[in-house]
Amino acid sequence: MLIIGFESSCDETGVAIAGTDRGLIAHALHSQIAMHREYGGVVPELASRDHIRRIVPLTREVMAQAGVKPGDLGAVAYTAGPGLAGALLVGASFAKSFAWSLGLPAIPIHHLEGHLLSPQLADEAPDFPFVALLVSGGHTQLMRVAGVGRYELLGETLDDAAGEAFDKSAKLLGLSYPGGPELSRLAQSGNPAAYDLPRPMLHSGNLDFSFSGLKTAVLTRMRALDASGRAADPAARADLAAATEAAIVDVLATKALQALRQTGLRTLVVAGGVGANQRLRSRLQTALAAMGGRVYFPPLSLCTDNGAMIAWAAVQRVRAGLVDLQDFKRPEFGVRPRWDLQDVCIA
Ligand code: KG4
Ligand code: ZN
Repeated sequence: MLIIGFESSCDETGVAIAGTDRGLIAHALHSQIAMHREYGGVVPELASRDHIRRIVPLTREVMAQAGVKPGDLGAVAYTAGPGLAGALLVGASFAKSFAWSLGLPAIPIHHLEGHLLSPQLADEAPDFPFVALLVSGGHTQLMRVAGVGRYELLGETLDDAAGEAFDKSAKLLGLSYPGGPELSRLAQSGNPAAYDLPRPMLHSGNLDFSFSGLKTAVLTRMRALDASGRAADPAARADLAAATEAAIVDVLATKALQALRQTGLRTLVVAGGVGANQRLRSRLQTALAAMGGRVYFPPLSLCTDNGAMIAWAAVQRVRAGLVDLQDFKRPEFGVRPRWDLQDVCIA
């Protein structure tokens, strides 16, 4: 069965086609980053309007790429949440109308489940069970993943998400949105040991995180640089960027390894936008190799939001027998801007 998936939860419009017996077949993406940059963050109303502009051309592009006609499709999937309400509604209403016009089911997908299963789109895919470190702009969670729909929360952030910590620190450093990749770029020429930044909750004994204190620490260091007239010094800013990145990565890696010890597992999967961070990738690769385990990442292009992970999650749910296709042919649909992943778990 061929499934077309739509992602529109935030600032990327993504469309993809995947098959239950063929994996990912085609995907297309439009990022709104350039449009939101001048406002320093995502403007929800602009995001919704841009999704409306992009979704039809991207759908045409993906169908042409895949050589697929509407009549070849067996189901439609869309991100139903969590995310920005207006942005979600664009994808959901387009997906539902498209499905309705073809007499197909429209399968609502949880955005985080998309991220969680996306490492399986890499050439070498992880086997269940594994520990997942989900690090995006809105979430930081450690989960034990026993199979599709079998996710147990081990720990999560009590305040800011890891991506948010990157983005907010980057803003303090005068970098443009989205700050994560910009801060990492600046960090490459800096010395991470130049500043001793806090590692919040590193020794808390549990698998929860807290990043809001780090942001305050970066603010304090930036003010000190300002006061000493060094705020514009590229070397000083690069050092602070490197120290910030090192602190975030240190906490994420330490807790991920702790989760592996706690569960007795040796497979770690990293998903979500922050999974694109090279320092995090190499730190985990070294640590897992040392313990005889393995870490898996989604292909770099699929770390941040995309349609492929939504089509793929739908394929996985259909394959696992978790989707009542008849039920999703009913006309009602909705979006859930706030949606706990536990709600899509098998009891
Ligand atoms: O998963 P994602 O695309 O969107 C959400 O669902 O939130 O994640 C976006 C987050 C942003 O906070 C962005 O700054 C961060 O991922 N990010 C990075 C990198 N690339 C993206 N953070 C650190 N290093 C990167 N290379
Ligand atoms: Zn995401």
